[in-house]
Amino acid sequence: MELIKGEEVADSLKADISKEVRKLIDAGQRAPHLVAILVGNDGASHTYVGHKEKCCNECGFRSSVLKFDENISEEELLQEIEKLNNDNSVDGFIVQLPLPKHISEQKVTEAIDPKKDVDGFHPVNTGRMINGLPSYLPATPDGILELLKYYNIATAGKKCVVIGRSNIVGRPIANLLFQKGWDCTVTICHSRTANLKEEVAQADIIIAALGIAQFVTADMVKEGAVVIDVGITRIPSDKTKSGWKLLGDVKFDEVAPKCSYITPVPGGVGPMTIISLMKNTLKAAKKEIYG
Ligand code: GUN
Repeated sequence: MELIKGEEVADSLKADISKEVRKLIDAGQRAPHLVAILVGNDGASHTYVGHKEKCCNECGFRSSVLKFDENISEEELLQEIEKLNNDNSVDGFIVQLPLPKHISEQKVTEAIDPKKDVDGFHPVNTGRMINGLPSYLPATPDGILELLKYYNIATAGKKCVVIGRSNIVGRPIANLLFQKGWDCTVTICHSRTANLKEEVAQADIIIAALGIAQFVTADMVKEGAVVIDVGITRIPSDKTKSGWKLLGDVKFDEVAPKCSYITPVPGGVGPMTIISLMKNTLKAAKKEIYG
């Protein structure tokens, strides 16, 4: 069994991105600029945006955070988005989710210019992705593909079972893995799937992205399978300084011995997601997707 080390892959890609940024700057271009919109006081969102700022600095990007009170109206927020759409000093921006209940996440997502949608959540980007056209890929699926690439994990002709059908992980990763170049045969399982255990047990590659802690047990995993665990459930713990710990969707201790490769939680897929945001921002600065 080989452990997939997300931090190591993320560091390697970060170094590649920094080199690219240096080249742009040496050629006289300004640094790529990512803006994050943060609404309200959600603690986790503040932490995530802080990580994004730090990573931007490490990659040589410019980063800005626009903070708004949780009472901002939907209309005002849409106006702020329009300003960023038209601001030539901004290459890409994200609106950190979740948003307060009175604001429609769908309207906000669709208000972002697809050319600057470095989260890859706009339907134009998802549609282009599904059709195999160049697009900004969503962070977690792209992070998973980077891990498979880094470890030279064979995918062509392999049976891949994706557990979960969310818009940000299950649907896109299932779609990407059957596209040319990856060439998996993909099954998507969800809460209404019959004989789920039997489906998963046939998989050469399992992507666990259903959001139920420790759902995947050893009896569901074929000997030699590749297991990618996307789950991050926070549970209280008296053994950590923070008072909580993270659990994946896979029962790691019993599943790991059966695997050829497995991602730990934390330290597997997690560190990769931020790198995908950096990759997309660099692509935006270089006008790689839309010209
Ligand atoms: N909230 C949790 N993850 C994400 C993400 O990838 N993008 C945005 N915009 N919000 C999030």
